[in-house]
This record gives sequence, structure tokens and C-alpha cells, in this order.
Amino acid sequence: MSGRLAGKTALVTGAARGIGRACALRFAEEGADVALVDIARDVPGVPYPGARREQLDETARLVAERGVRTLALPADVTDTVSIGAAVEAAIQDLGHIDVLVTAAGIDSWGKAWELTDEQWQKMLDVNLTGVWKTARAVSPNMIARKKGAIVFIGSVLSHRANKEFAHYTAAKHGVLGLTRAFGLELAPFGVRVNSVDPTVVFTDMVMNQAYLDRLGGHPGTTLDEAREYYLRWNTLPIPWTEPVDIANAALFLASEEARAITGVALPVDLGALLK
Ligand SMILES: NC(=O)c1ccc[n+]([C@@H]2O[C@H](COP(=O)([O-])OP(=O)(O)OC[C@H]3O[C@@H](n4cnc5c(N)ncnc54)[C@H](O)[C@@H]3O)[C@@H](O)[C@H]2O)c1
Repeated sequence: MSGRLAGKTALVTGAARGIGRACALRFAEEGADVALVDIARDVPGVPYPGARREQLDETARLVAERGVRTLALPADVTDTVSIGAAVEAAIQDLGHIDVLVTAAGIDSWGKAWELTDEQWQKMLDVNLTGVWKTARAVSPNMIARKKGAIVFIGSVLSHRANKEFAHYTAAKHGVLGLTRAFGLELAPFGVRVNSVDPTVVFTDMVMNQAYLDRLGGHPGTTLDEAREYYLRWNTLPIPWTEPVDIANAALFLASEEARAITGVALPVDLGALLK
């Protein structure tokens, strides 16, 4: 296999759909064997449908179609035993892990002073603690081999706030902290740690009716109304990014082309942070 990740192995969380799937496919196209982790079921308290086991298997089929090895590993990134077992299975099967991408994540919303304990805790558990637990599980393998690249999927809300997303904003600011902390501690072992921080991406997380209705402020909000909203939110005259835009940035940071880059956050934000 040739390509920018030829001969490498990767583990991607949130791989059943959206950004995680796009990263898995893009990495496979560039020659990496890819282990696919996802909870692949509804997550309590999340106001839109979760991924399905069939979607995780479909990612595996699409990765295999690209001529590399793959395995589907249903696991929960918030559960130490579950994510630990998935990482171990990936190492057993693929030999080691060169690249980690953490794309598992959830969304919910509510005014900062009205969020419930459950909303707060679930958000922090998945979008922050889950990222840490995954990186914690993978790091020893990279440290032992004195190489590796970790790419966290953050958000523009790692850098700024948005109304009704205090818990998400806090979690994503935390991911920026993890990028710097892991970057600092893993650098002596030749392991690089960076994040890709997207503006809105066309995935199930935000392109579902519950999310659109929140955005538009009324039931039945259309995609056209969302387009208008996001054109105001971004700076470039493009309403949203596609998962492959995020995957291309993750691919760059995971590849040797980024060998001099660690501890940084790369916004893929259509200029949203310029405002
Ligand atoms: N879509 C956007 O607009 C956008 C913008 C900025 C950042 N992000 C971030 O990108 C990442 C990926 O989101 P997406 O847009 O692809 O959403 P998505 O809902 O399409 O995919 C997220 C995946 O994570 C999985 N997941 C959820 N909880 C899990 C758990 N506990 N353990 C394992 N897997 C779990 C889901 O099953 C799903 O397949 C998230 O961290 C999200 O916060 C998304």
C-alpha cells in the first residue's frame, strides 16, 4: 500500500458515522490499517438518535474496500474497562497503534443556568473524560515505541462560547487543555498531540430535526433556514464543512508532514473564529 500513512495503524473513536467515519476512510485511502471504535447505540439524554451497529460495520466494510486491514470494536469511551479492552484488541490484531483520533462525542443544549446534573455530567463524561480515557489507554503503546500521533477532535467552542452550550463549551475547552498537557508530556517520547477544531460539520449531530428546531427557534426549521444562520456564523461564504474537510486536517496532523507540530489546535472553521 502506498500513501501518506502507508504501513501505519490507526484507532479512530466515533467511527460509526460522521467525522470519525470520514477519518477512518481517509486514513485507509492513505494506506493505514484502521481499528474502529464506537458505542453504536443511543446515548441516554442525547436528543437525537445514536449510531447503530450496522453503521459501524458499514464503516468497516468501506475501510476494507480500500484494501487495508480493519476491525470494528463496539466500546464506550467513558468506561475504563470497555475502552481499555478495545485498545488492547486493536493492538493484538494490528500489532500497535501509530495514530489515534478521538471523534466520539455527543451534543445536547440548554441555558447555562438550566442544564440538569445529568446533561452536565454526561457531556463531561463523553466529550472530555472519554477523550482522556482513550488517550490514556493508547499512550503506553506509543511511549514504548517512541512514536505516534494523537489528534483530538475539538471544536470552535474550544476557543469561544455559544449560547445554550455551556457544558459543551467547557468540555471542549478541556480538550484544548488535554491537547497541551498530553503534547507536553508525550513530546519526549516522540509522540505528537494536536487537535482539529471544526465549525459546524454536516453530520447527524447537528443535522437532525431537534437541533435544527433549537437553531431556528421553532418546530419544523428547514435546512435552508439553517444555511442562512450558518452563513452569518462563519466568515467564508460557505454554510458548513463536510466530514472529509475535518478528516483532511486530521490526516495532515497524523502524517509525517506535520512532524514538527505538537500541542496546537487547528481550527477548520470557515473563518468563524475571526468574528
Ligand atoms: N458536527 C459538528 O458540527 C461538529 C462541530 C465541531 C465539533 N464536532 C465534534 O466532532 C466529533 C464527532 O462528531 P460528529 O459530528 O461526527 O457526530 P456524530 O454524532 O455523527 O458522531 C459521533 C459518534 O460518536 C459515537 N459516540 C457517542 N458517545 C460515545 C461513547 N460514549 N463511546 C464511543 N462512541 C461514542 C456515536 O455513536 C457517533 O457514532 C465530536 O467530538 C463533536 O463534538 C462536531
